[in-house]
Amino acid sequence: MDLLIPDKVHDESRQGEALVLEPVGKHNGRKLYIESYGCAMNFSDSEIVASILAEKGFETTSDFKNADVVFINTCSIRENAETRVRNRLKEFAWAKAKNPGMVVGVLGCMAERLKAKFLEEEKLVDVVVGPDAYRDLPNLIEQVDGGQKAVNVLLSREETYADINPVRLNSNGINAFVSIMRGCDNMCSFCVVPFTRGRERSRDAYSVVAECRALFDQGYREVTLLGQNVDSYKWKPLPALSEGEGSDNAVQKVSPIGGDLEEAVNFANLLEMVALVSPDLRVRFSTSHPKDITDEVLETIAKYDNICNYIHLPVQSGNSRILDMMNRTYDREWYMNRVDAIRRIIGDCAISTDIITGFCSETDKEHDDTVTMMDYVKYDYAYMFKYSERPGTLAAKRYADDVPEDVKQRRLTQIVDKQREYSFYRLQARIGKVEKVLIEGLSKKSDKDYCGRSDQNAMVIFPVNENYKPGQYVNVLIERSTSATLMGKIID
Ligand code: 5AD
Ligand code: SF4
Repeated sequence: MDLLIPDKVHDESRQGEALVLEPVGKHNGRKLYIESYGCAMNFSDSEIVASILAEKGFETTSDFKNADVVFINTCSIRENAETRVRNRLKEFAWAKAKNPGMVVGVLGCMAERLKAKFLEEEKLVDVVVGPDAYRDLPNLIEQVDGGQKAVNVLLSREETYADINPVRLNSNGINAFVSIMRGCDNMCSFCVVPFTRGRERSRDAYSVVAECRALFDQGYREVTLLGQNVDSYKWKPLPALSEGEGSDNAVQKVSPIGGDLEEAVNFANLLEMVALVSPDLRVRFSTSHPKDITDEVLETIAKYDNICNYIHLPVQSGNSRILDMMNRTYDREWYMNRVDAIRRIIGDCAISTDIITGFCSETDKEHDDTVTMMDYVKYDYAYMFKYSERPGTLAAKRYADDVPEDVKQRRLTQIVDKQREYSFYRLQARIGKVEKVLIEGLSKKSDKDYCGRSDQNAMVIFPVNENYKPGQYVNVLIERSTSATLMGKIID
C-alpha cells in the first residue's frame, strides 16, 4: 500500500466499496452491484452510473452474489491499481459460474485503456465501458442479454453528465462530491489519465451551482468540487442560451455573483458562486495544479469563510530537471512562489501534495531536492508513490524506467518517514487553538466520540455532546494530537 494518509479524495478505506441506493420505484426485477476503485472522480462516476440504471428500473444490492449485473469501476493510475482489479475479477468468476446469466462489466479507466482486449484477457467480462459512455449502458446490457459481448469506449469532447442528477450512495448526508469538469489536457509524462479520460471539458456552471444548492437543501453541509485540474475550469454560456428564450434561459440570465453572465466563468468565479449558496455550506475542491493556481483563486478562498483553507497542490518532485522531464511545466522556484502566495494571501492554509519517487533517471541528489521541498513547505499531508511505468504514456515512450526498485523504495520510505514528522508537527501546532468543526458522525473507534473535519481538513475527535448533531458546526478546543488526528472538546 503506497498511500500514506487516506482522505476523502483518494480514500484508501473506500477502495472497492460497493454502492447501494434506494430504488426509484420503477423496479425491473434486476439487481445491480457496483464497486469502485481509484480517485474520488471514479466514486462520483459510479453514482452517475447507478442513477442512469436506476432510471431503467435497476435496484442496487451490496451483495454481488445476488446481483444480475456486476460492475467494477476501475483505476489505471499505477500497476498495482490494475492488479487489484484483476484479482477482484477472479472472485466474481465463481459467482458467475453459479449464475451464468449474470452480466459482468468493467467500467472506468482500465476499460478505456484496454478496450476490447479486456474481453480476450478476462473471459468472464461481458461489457467494457469507458468513462464517457455511461449513457449507453442500458443498450449495452441489452446487447449482452441478446447473447453478445459489448464494448463502448468512445471518448467525448462534450460529455459532462451535467443533466444527470447523481444519486448519493453510502452517503452520510453531510459531505458530497460534485464533479465540475472531466478529462485532462496536461500530458504529464508519467500519467495515463489523458488517455483514459480524454480531453478536458468544464461542466455548465449553473448545473454545478444548482446541484450544490439542492444538496444544501437536502441537509448536506460540505461539497468537494472535483476535477483533474480545477484551476483550468472555464465555462461560457452558449450564445443561444443567453438570449432569454425558454424557461431554462431565464435562469441562465441571472448571475449568482451579480450582473449578466456574459464573460466565461473561471474557477475563482465558480468557487464564489458555490460559496454564495449559503455561508453554512463548506466548499472544498481538488485537485489544484501549481502552473494554473492564480492569485485570484487564492483571494477568493481568503474572501469567503466557507471556502476551506486547504489546498491539495501536487509537487511530484522538488527538482527542476525531473519536473521538466515529467512535463509539469513549472520548476522548483515557481512552485515555491505559489506556496509563498498561499501563505501571503490566505495565511493559515493547509497544503497537501503528491510525490513520485524514482522517476526515470532521478539521482540521489535530485531526490534530495524533493526532501528539501518538504522541509520548505512542511506539508500537512502527502500521498507518496513509487514511479510505476504506464504503457502508452510519454515517459514510457521516451525514457527508461531505470531507477532500481530498491532505490525507489528507499527514497519512498525516507519521505514517508519525513512526512509523518511534518503531519505531526502541523497538528501539534493546533493544540490550544479553537477549530470550527463540521460534525460528520460518530468516531469509528468509539460511539462516545464524534468525528469531523476542521477548516484545514484535519480529522478531529471529541466527546459526544447531546446538544449537537451530525451536520452541525461546533467549536472544538484542541487538547492533543496523534500524527493523523486532533483531539479536543466542544466549547460553547
Ligand atoms: N506512477 C506513480 N504515481 C503516479 N501518479 C500518477 N501517475 C503515476 C505513475 N505512473 C500519482 C501522481 C498523481 C497521483 C494522483 O498519482 O502523484 O498526482
Ligand atoms: Fe482516477 Fe486516474 Fe485512477 Fe482514472 S486512472 S480512476 S482518473 S486516479
